[in-house]
Amino acid sequence: MLTASPRPATQRAMTVAPDAPILFFDSGVGGLSILAPARAALPHAPVVYAADSAGFPYGTKSEAEIAARVPALLGRLVERYRPRLAVIACNTASTIALRHVRAALDIAVVGTVPAIKPAALLSKSRVFGVLGTDATVRQPYVDRLAAEHGADCIVLRHGSAALVELAEAKLRGETLDPAIARTALAGLLDQPGGDRMDVVALACTHFPLVEAELSAAAQALGSGALTFVHGGEGIARRIAFLTQDQPWPDTPPPGIAVFTRLDTDVRALAPALARYGLDRIEPL
Ligand code: DGL
Repeated sequence: MLTASPRPATQRAMTVAPDAPILFFDSGVGGLSILAPARAALPHAPVVYAADSAGFPYGTKSEAEIAARVPALLGRLVERYRPRLAVIACNTASTIALRHVRAALDIAVVGTVPAIKPAALLSKSRVFGVLGTDATVRQPYVDRLAAEHGADCIVLRHGSAALVELAEAKLRGETLDPAIARTALAGLLDQPGGDRMDVVALACTHFPLVEAELSAAAQALGSGALTFVHGGEGIARRIAFLTQDQPWPDTPPPGIAVFTRLDTDVRALAPALARYGLDRIEPL
C-alpha cells in the first residue's frame, strides 16, 4: 500500500518559485508597520500588501464578522497571488481569526498578537498598558497572554478607534489633531494604577505609525518616560526563519498594494505606499 509521506524541507524549498511573494494583510495601512521591518530583513522579497478597505475598520466589528470575512478574503488573495507565506499584519484579525485562516489555507500563516510578553519583560513598575482596538482588547487571547506573561502586573487595557483613523490620516498626508493621541493615552493613564504605568504595548498595527504623536501626547500629559513596544521586529525574524531555505529573485519586482475598495482615500495613500516600496495599486 502506498502512503503519503511528508516532503522533506529541502524539497519544499525547491518548489517555492523565487518570485512567489510574501502576502501581508490588514484592514488598512497598519500592516505597513510590519512590512517595513520585514523588508529590512529580507530586501529581495517580492511583496503584496493587501488592505481590506471595504471592511475597514475591523476594531468596531463583531467577532463573527471578522471570523467570516478574513479567511474568505485571504483565500481569494492566495488564489490570485500564490504567495509563499501569508502574514496577518493586524492584531484584531489575528486574535480573532488566525486559527480559521490557518485551517483554510495550505501555506504558512504568521499572525500578529499583542506584544504583552515584551511589555511585561520591560516594565519595572509592573504596571503596563495594552492599547489596541476595542475588538482586540476584549479578546480572551489577551487574557491568556496577560496571565501567562504578566501575572504579577497590573495590565491596563484601552481600545481606540480614533487612533486607527489618525494613522490612516497621517499616511494620507493630512493635518493631525494632537488631542486624538492625548485622549487615547489618557484612556490608560486615567485608570487606577495608570500613574505608575511605564510601558505600553501598541496592540494594533496602526499605532506604531503614530508613535511620534503618542510620545508627544505622553510628554503633554506629564508621562514622558513611557516606553512603547510592538511586535514588528519579532515578526520579521519569524518570516526570515520560515523562509530561510527558500530562493529569492536577484532584483525584487515592484511591490503591489491591493485594496478591496479603491476610492479617493486610497488614492491619497499612493505617495506613502511608494515610500514603503509599493508602487502598484490594484483592486481585489
Ligand atoms: N490594524 C488593525 C489591528 O492591528 C486594525 C485596525 C482597524 O481596522 O480597526 O488591530
